[in-house]
Amino acid sequence: MARIAIIGAGAIGGVIAALLQQAGRHELILCVRRPLAGLTVETPDGEVHVEAAIATDPASVSAVDWVIVATKAYDAAGAAKWFDRLRAAGNPGTTGAPVAVLQNGVEHRERFAPYVPLDSILPVVVNCPAERQMPELVRQRGPMHLTAPDNDLGRSFAALFAGTPADATVVPDFTSVAWRKLCHNAAGVLSSLLLQPAGVMRNEAVGETALQIVRECAAVGRAEGAHLDSDVAEAVLRTYRAAPVDGVNSLHADRAAGRPMEIDARNGVIVRLGKKHGIPTPCNQMAVALLEAMAG
Ligand SMILES: NC(=O)c1ccc[n+]([C@@H]2O[C@H](COP(=O)([O-])OP(=O)(O)OC[C@H]3O[C@@H](n4cnc5c(N)ncnc54)[C@H](OP(=O)(O)O)[C@@H]3O)[C@@H](O)[C@H]2O)c1
Repeated sequence: MARIAIIGAGAIGGVIAALLQQAGRHELILCVRRPLAGLTVETPDGEVHVEAAIATDPASVSAVDWVIVATKAYDAAGAAKWFDRLRAAGNPGTTGAPVAVLQNGVEHRERFAPYVPLDSILPVVVNCPAERQMPELVRQRGPMHLTAPDNDLGRSFAALFAGTPADATVVPDFTSVAWRKLCHNAAGVLSSLLLQPAGVMRNEAVGETALQIVRECAAVGRAEGAHLDSDVAEAVLRTYRAAPVDGVNSLHADRAAGRPMEIDARNGVIVRLGKKHGIPTPCNQMAVALLEAMAG
């Protein structure tokens, strides 16, 4: 049994809460910034009504065994406001609760390093299609896959999900997993720029641009230590072209709704780390500049 705080009860936070509840042995606290009367998750196996304590004030919570961050990447500073009390050390000699960061991108540790010691941060790659329909209703449209590094924290995190429908695994080469996911997400910027769903990738010129965006991402990823197949760009494009034509990625959905976007975590990072390694990233640079300018 573990006492687990989930910061952010949106799509991923909601699905994680529903999964952990199905383990039947954890105490859950949802840390939210707007009051929430309850939370229902429509999972592929049926509806789950989450039974969790709901906290809206970082000053009202107490120490837990695990903190799970499920906010968007750009909300790191807000999420960190919960850490002081959630991570308060329990018994003398113990350290504060570890923080699992369930966000897109490759900078999970860097994002939270100003707030938590590095050895207490667990980066987790999330693969699960889900969206928040309303503040109190989340729809999970497919299985949840969670991938963490193979170390003590990663194994202890994966064990939280034992007996649930989630596929929570650890891998020795987490860097490659994270960059492979970023390769896929990086190309999604085109839908956001064009405000057109995944079917736009079937256009020849758009597909060619997607290949360039992913090749830049892969070059930077390899410089960062990721092992990526030489045809990773072609594989990403094939996946987009095989997906339903009306699929809307979150960068596209966020821009269409006038919400902030994870542009820095998904494409800006490629430009920044490309500069560090002396690798040109003109396609990503242009995509970031245009999207940021359009978002005002
Ligand atoms: N959705 C997917 O299918 C999917 C798949 C894979 C990976 N991801 C990644 O998972 C991460 C989470 O995405 P998501 O889709 O779950 O986003 P989301 O639906 O927008 O949920 C984020 C939640 O965080 C909350 N939040 C923000 N700041 C907070 C704070 N200071 N305290 C408490 N709660 C706070 C937001 O609250 P408000 O309600 O007040 O806005 C919102 O409920 C992102 O990095 C995303 O890229 C998502």
